[in-house]
Amino acid sequence: MTSNTGKMPMAQAAPIGIFDSGIGGLSVLRHIHQNLSHENLLYFADSAYAPYGDRSEPEISARSLAVTQFLLQRGIKALVVACNTATAAAIQAIREAYPNLPVIGIEPGLKPAAAQSHSKIVGVLATKATLLSARLLTLEQQISAASGVRFALQACVGLVDQIEKGELRSAQTAQLLRRHIAPLMGQGADTLVLGCTHYPFVRPLIEDIASSLSTNPIAIIDTGDAASRQLTRVLRDNALLQSPQQQGNVTAFTTGSQTALKTAFNSLLQLQPAIQQVASMAHTTAIS
Ligand code: DGL
Repeated sequence: MTSNTGKMPMAQAAPIGIFDSGIGGLSVLRHIHQNLSHENLLYFADSAYAPYGDRSEPEISARSLAVTQFLLQRGIKALVVACNTATAAAIQAIREAYPNLPVIGIEPGLKPAAAQSHSKIVGVLATKATLLSARLLTLEQQISAASGVRFALQACVGLVDQIEKGELRSAQTAQLLRRHIAPLMGQGADTLVLGCTHYPFVRPLIEDIASSLSTNPIAIIDTGDAASRQLTRVLRDNALLQSPQQQGNVTAFTTGSQTALKTAFNSLLQLQPAIQQVASMAHTTAIS
């Protein structure tokens, strides 16, 4: 087992680590797998601790550092924090702990949403922790001041649990979503930002509900592909891109159920990676 902390040259053949509180990060892995099919990917679902969005910043930060350390022990050359909640709470701590590790985060697409909204009212669907974070608040204020757009923030409490259960089209999920989306449509939003990586998996339901509540066309913003393109840029800039002659593979780890993650990979991405269940680990210290 090797570890990369920047003291040794990082091999181009080394894997890319991707993590989320559960299966949400698969909506980002999907783009990475398409755009960088020659790369080896290690996916970590911290399902025993999901949802992160109901946890405190110190808790989310501690879990994110523990997962990062686990992935570093498996030799990753770069890390994708495929979780808006963990990016908001912990990306700074991860970068401080591992200054030589390229780290890519994901944030709600407020800027692209503002650029294309006609009504100048944008609804942001995200977890409670993301919407309460200083990072999101700063982003919101900056973009609002520059564009004149008003952001209506909506915490989708309960939605991650429904998605983790695989209930992507159930009546209960639809009811929950309607409750969260109706106030945004009522305020005149014409654009909805998917500010949590789990939500792209209920995008068809979100589109149906939003359209049924509005006479105008509704735009949906998902930043999964943008994060994947940013990863490509960072790997290229650091001369870390794997040779395109190689065929990449996907391996996954979970602190929750191996069967549940296997089902999610298969049904959402039609991928059958090797999956290993791991005990919940605690973050100790930066590896040297
Ligand atoms: N998928 C995550 C996000 O992008 C976390 C959801 C959660 O665990 O609450 O925010």
